[in-house]
Amino acid sequence: MEVIIVVFALVSLVGTYAQSPSSSCPEVSVVQNFNATGYLGKWYEQMKYPFIFELDAKCISAEYSLNPNGTVRVLNQQINIGTGHPNSIEGTARLDSTTGEAKLLVNFPTAPIHFDSPYWVVATDYVSYSVVWSCAEVPLIGKSTHAWILTRERNPSRDLIDKALSVFEKQHLSTTSLLTTDQQDCPKQ
Ligand SMILES: *[C@@H]1O[C@H](CO)[C@@H](O)[C@H](O)[C@H]1NC(C)=O
Ligand SMILES: *[C@@H]1O[C@H](CO)[C@@H](O)[C@H](O)[C@H]1NC(C)=O
Repeated sequence: MEVIIVVFALVSLVGTYAQSPSSSCPEVSVVQNFNATGYLGKWYEQMKYPFIFELDAKCISAEYSLNPNGTVRVLNQQINIGTGHPNSIEGTARLDSTTGEAKLLVNFPTAPIHFDSPYWVVATDYVSYSVVWSCAEVPLIGKSTHAWILTRERNPSRDLIDKALSVFEKQHLSTTSLLTTDQQDCPKQ
C-alpha cells in the first residue's frame, strides 16, 4: 500500500509539475504533411516547461534516426550540472497518425515512469527550429503537459528563439513557465 502511494505521489508530481489549472488538454494544431525524414538528426534544447528528470541538466540534445523497422530512434543526451558527467537515455518514437499530422508517440523503456508520451510538432522549418508540445490526460493523475523549443544550432540567434516563442503565443500556449536550457560550455557531441 505504501509503495503504491509513493508511486502515485511521484507520478502526480511529474504530472502536475507544469500544469495549468484546467484539467483537459488545450486544442493545439500541429504541422500538416509532416516530413519525418526532414526532421531526423540532431536538435538542441533551448527552452522547456520544467521537467523533473532534467532539472539538474545542461547541454541537452536530442538525436532522431531511423530504426530498421521504420520507427524513430530517440537519443537524448545531457550533462549533469552537479557532476559534469554526461548521461543519455534512448527511446523509440512512432507516428501516431496516418493523416500526415506531426503527432508522434515517444517511449523511453528505461525511464522511471514510462508510457507513450505524445510528441506533437507544432511548428518547424526542419532546418532551424522546432516547437514541440506534449499533453496527456492520464487517468486518476490528471494532465501532464510539456513543451520544448529545439534548434539545429546549439547557440542560435535571439531572433530564432523569438520566432519559436511567437508560435506559443499564436496557439495561446503559456510561455511564462518556459525555462531556458543552459547550452554554454558544452562538450562537442
Ligand atoms: C523531406 O526531407 C528530406 C530531407 O531533408 C528531403 O530530401 C525531401 O525532399 C523532403 N520531402 C518532401 C516531400 O518535402
Ligand atoms: C523497432 O526497433 C527498435 C530498435 O530495435 C525497438 O526498440 C522497437 O521496440 C521496435 N518497435 C517495433 C514497433 O517493432
